Amino acid sequence: MKKTMTILAIETSCDETSIALVECTGGLKTPQFKVIKNIVSSQIPIHRPFGGVVPNLAKREHIKNLPLVLRKVLGKARQPNDLRLAISDLPAIDLIAVTVGPGLEPALWTGIEFAKKVTSDMRQVTGKKVPLAGANHLEGHLYSFLANKNPTSYFLHHTSLFPSIALIVSGGHTILLKMDSLTKWKKLGETRDDASGEAFDKVAKMMGLPYPGGPEISKLAEKGNPKAINFPRPMIRDKSYDFSFSGLKTAVLYYLKDKAPSTNNESNTNKRIRTFEKDSLFADFADIAASFEEAVVEVLTKKTMRAVKEFNARSIILCGGVAANKHLKSEMLKATRKMGINFFLPPNDLNGDNAAMIAIGAYINSLKKKKYPLHANGNLNL
Ligand code: KG4
Ligand code: ZN
Repeated sequence: MKKTMTILAIETSCDETSIALVECTGGLKTPQFKVIKNIVSSQIPIHRPFGGVVPNLAKREHIKNLPLVLRKVLGKARQPNDLRLAISDLPAIDLIAVTVGPGLEPALWTGIEFAKKVTSDMRQVTGKKVPLAGANHLEGHLYSFLANKNPTSYFLHHTSLFPSIALIVSGGHTILLKMDSLTKWKKLGETRDDASGEAFDKVAKMMGLPYPGGPEISKLAEKGNPKAINFPRPMIRDKSYDFSFSGLKTAVLYYLKDKAPSTNNESNTNKRIRTFEKDSLFADFADIAASFEEAVVEVLTKKTMRAVKEFNARSIILCGGVAANKHLKSEMLKATRKMGINFFLPPNDLNGDNAAMIAIGAYINSLKKKKYPLHANGNLNL
């Protein structure tokens, strides 16, 4: 087997157009990654006026952005409009990987079609046929911690990693896994309704905060009192490892209706937040955000730690967009320290959607010969 594998990865599952070039070595025992380039072009400003991602707009933007992002990856930002020119300067690529799911199917197809075009252009330019592999977005999130170079990195601690409890928290998913090795896992539970990121986004929308709501809520929460309102902790004592966040979201809605009737009007609420920054209403909003965040974090942390105890886990892995949440990270860190186990996280720039994580997942899958067909599958799971 060749020692280093250079992977060009493409990610278009939602509202980020991303292409990365990653050097992968070490095999399944000690995988190591050098992210050469990881360009993420966000469509947030396009979708923000609609309060969420509009699939057809996402598709249009991906089609427009993909060639531009590829040129940035190749360091050819000012190249004329011929992709083949840019491709001729590519380093030797061993594999092209593209996300095939889960996500928005029209968006996924743009990535798949683009990956096919790059593969065929590359063949014309270099005469070499580079394999093209489908990739699972959730595996990308799951393996993204492998790129972390900090002192708690997997590479330094892989002997005390398994069994591990992995929590994937994103805009579309909340999944708890027990991992016996990098490639062998069992799903313990997942959300029965809204994903944790989705709950953040929906609560933010109810409060008149812009999309995506997770970072907005957590910013506001820093100024609030997490004990101010005792929101429900759904399924916290349930025997299963499943989650549910829609009841919590509804509890916040009732609270808002009760305490601040005019919050039904979003733009009005926005104005009130801006106008009354030092006023009690703002304090109330900050308390709502902090108390909501506290409820989500408590459920996620308690259930993860219960799984750690039950399965004698030696570490936890936290990943996905919501893993960027500071309160969640610090509570998980406290809990892992108390139990004397390791805590693995992706580097900060790999929490949200990006193509570097897709390359990492594709490397692991190529080693275990796991393949996904080149067909968009919006509901693909682990
Ligand atoms: O993994 P990701 O980028 O996309 C999906 O695969 O869904 O996750 C996006 C989600 C959004 O719901 C966003 O609001 C949430 O992650 N998010 C956060 C934070 N940053 C992003 N949620 C809470 N706190 C944050 N700091
Ligand atoms: Zn994601």
